[in-house]
Amino acid sequence: MSWNVGRIKSETFVKDVESHARLGSTNDRALELCAMGLPPERLPLLVLADRQTAGRGRGTHRWWSADGALTFSVVLDRNQLALPADRLPIVALLAGLAVARTLVDRLPEVPIGLKWPNDVWVMGRKLGGILIETAADGPVVVGIGLNVNNSLAQAPDELQHTAASLSDITEQPWDRSDLLISVLQNLEDELKGLPEGLTQLPRRWSRFCVLQDRMVAAQMGREQTICGVCCGISASGSLILLTEHGERHVHGATTVRIIDDR
Ligand code: BTN
Repeated sequence: MSWNVGRIKSETFVKDVESHARLGSTNDRALELCAMGLPPERLPLLVLADRQTAGRGRGTHRWWSADGALTFSVVLDRNQLALPADRLPIVALLAGLAVARTLVDRLPEVPIGLKWPNDVWVMGRKLGGILIETAADGPVVVGIGLNVNNSLAQAPDELQHTAASLSDITEQPWDRSDLLISVLQNLEDELKGLPEGLTQLPRRWSRFCVLQDRMVAAQMGREQTICGVCCGISASGSLILLTEHGERHVHGATTVRIIDDR
């Protein structure tokens, strides 16, 4: 697959592109580039893998990607982001909105969802994930993986009934460059609205929130689990749960599960 690098550079905010036929993890490569030192004029930098072989998810999770998946990382200049360091997780929520907007435009009849904090859902299954990482005091890496032309028929058993891919849903191949360009354009749009745009975040997120009004269990590290009904997210990006002890704002849960049986 040859990516349309010319279009990517001319139609999006990306200044530089590093494209690989095969790569372990685009986030790992992006962090490596950050550690080597990236001049601000190369940012935002896009790291693209036609085939990612050791993709990582949040925590210790791995990210399955086969031929046809869309896997990339965008390295953002932290100084250009109008967000303090403790608010950087919001970038994952904004990236989720960017992906959701791209999908809604192309699949207006299909239910598109976001599961706080970093999952993209289509028809109740996980289609994509977002992994934000930061190089110590340096740039912010936004890693996005979407199942596009990789059929779930090739996926490990445990994903067969929980994950989705666009080509399986629509029974036709997708143009990955086109999808990528749209996600990047929407991401730029989401980021340029900061910080004022955060006041709209709860309303805009609620349109897609698959946890809304559901009873969920948010696990915080190994020790603590908070159960409550999801009332949406706050302008600071936390998940709001109505628990038996009142309203709780969850910031850094490791996993969030729906535990009602609706
Ligand atoms: C998750 O669901 O836990 C997040 C998955 C993020 C996967 C993407 S694929 C591109 C980038 N490179 C990685 O190694 N991971 C992210």
